[in-house]
Amino acid sequence: MDDLTSRPTGRHVAADDVQLRILIHHAPTPLWYVDLRAVGEAFEQLRARGVTDIAAYLDAHPELVETAKDIVLVTEVSQAAMALFRSASAKDLIGPVRYLFAATPAMARRVMIAHFDGRRNYVEQARMTTFDGEVRDVIFSVTYPTPGEPQDTAFITIEDVTDSLRTQAQLRRLQTDFAHAARLSMLGELAAAIAHEVKQPLAAIVTNAETSLRWLSRGEPNLAKVRELTARVAASAGRASDIIQRVQAMATKQDPHHIPLDLAEVVDEALHFVSHELDGRGIELSRTQLEALPTILGDRIQLQQVVVNLLVNAIQAIGEGAGRERRIELELGLEPSCAVMLAIRDTGPGVAAGDLRRVFDGFFTTKNTGVGIGLSVCQSIVAEHGGRISVSNHPAGGAMFQVRLPIVPAPEA
Ligand SMILES: Nc1ncnc2c1ncn2[C@@H]1O[C@H](COP(=O)(O)OP(=O)(O)OP(=O)(O)O)[C@@H](O)[C@H]1O
Ligand SMILES: [Mg+2]
Repeated sequence: MDDLTSRPTGRHVAADDVQLRILIHHAPTPLWYVDLRAVGEAFEQLRARGVTDIAAYLDAHPELVETAKDIVLVTEVSQAAMALFRSASAKDLIGPVRYLFAATPAMARRVMIAHFDGRRNYVEQARMTTFDGEVRDVIFSVTYPTPGEPQDTAFITIEDVTDSLRTQAQLRRLQTDFAHAARLSMLGELAAAIAHEVKQPLAAIVTNAETSLRWLSRGEPNLAKVRELTARVAASAGRASDIIQRVQAMATKQDPHHIPLDLAEVVDEALHFVSHELDGRGIELSRTQLEALPTILGDRIQLQQVVVNLLVNAIQAIGEGAGRERRIELELGLEPSCAVMLAIRDTGPGVAAGDLRRVFDGFFTTKNTGVGIGLSVCQSIVAEHGGRISVSNHPAGGAMFQVRLPIVPAPEA
């Protein structure tokens, strides 16, 4: 390291060191060796004139950024750099750095600011246009000399991440499709309960409407009574429409949309889907939350899906264990690790010790009619949210699933 940094200032930097040129040429990463002297001198002059806020200065003199693209010179490149730009000759890549900024012109300003501010490295995800006109997604990194070192050379490396970004996007799409398919299957399981849930307000509407008609058909209609009954009809219709909207939101296929959320609200919404099942099977649900929860960032529908899935599993587990205590304990809390935690514990038979490692595997099921996708989808949704899901058996019996989701970090200053 030292023999590089302690080179005498003013030495020519055109990679005239044969050994250095050979090393650069054969570097397996796209690498640019850059002559910075012209811009280094310009920066010296600016400093001498008292300029300290380079961002403000460049805002006032944007032409300096344009000039820099012409006076900062590439003097050497690796073969991998030539391949990235689809060029057979290194000569195409030698000279002004302007072509590196063709697809992301505004990056040049940020690269200059980092240099002026004495940073060692600057990294940005950007785009590059190859010489045959294709736009690629890249990670663009510069390594600069810092103040006190000769301000003559810098390294640029460019990593092509187009394919990996594409694969990631494809994976995200698959995950979304899979989660959607699992939601439809979950709604199918809950169809009877949902139908029953809608029937209640509809029955109330019918009763109240019929009573209204009777009050109206009297010799002297009781309008006050009719007004009251009509208000009840409207309220019941609103309730039915809410249920349908919730089901529709669950059934719709949409890209995950991460927004600030209160997990407690997500849990409330999820409970609407299973409250009928709980009542119908005589399962008592207790809910503990000691403190208000900080906001998390997530997709409302997908997180509802996780909670409904866990509750459906708990209900099914309790259904199996006959004659036992029938209770689900739902707990929400904040962990020291800056995560919001949701625990769902049931009084079912628990998970067999040998299955604890497998319950999150796709298509693992111990149920006759199970598909085994519920928990695997929960896991992929939680992971997509930067969180974790775990399972254990409670000492007092029954399974306990815990979901931890990171809270939204405070906005950076
Ligand atoms: N609360 C629970 N108590 C005991 N075992 C559980 C519990 N939740 C899940 N399991 C076990 O994990 C397995 C996988 O659960 P998962 O939800 O992925 O699939 P499933 O419920 O079997 O089928 P489905 O695809 O319909 O959800 C279950 O078959 C069961 O053996
Ligand atoms: Mg399940």
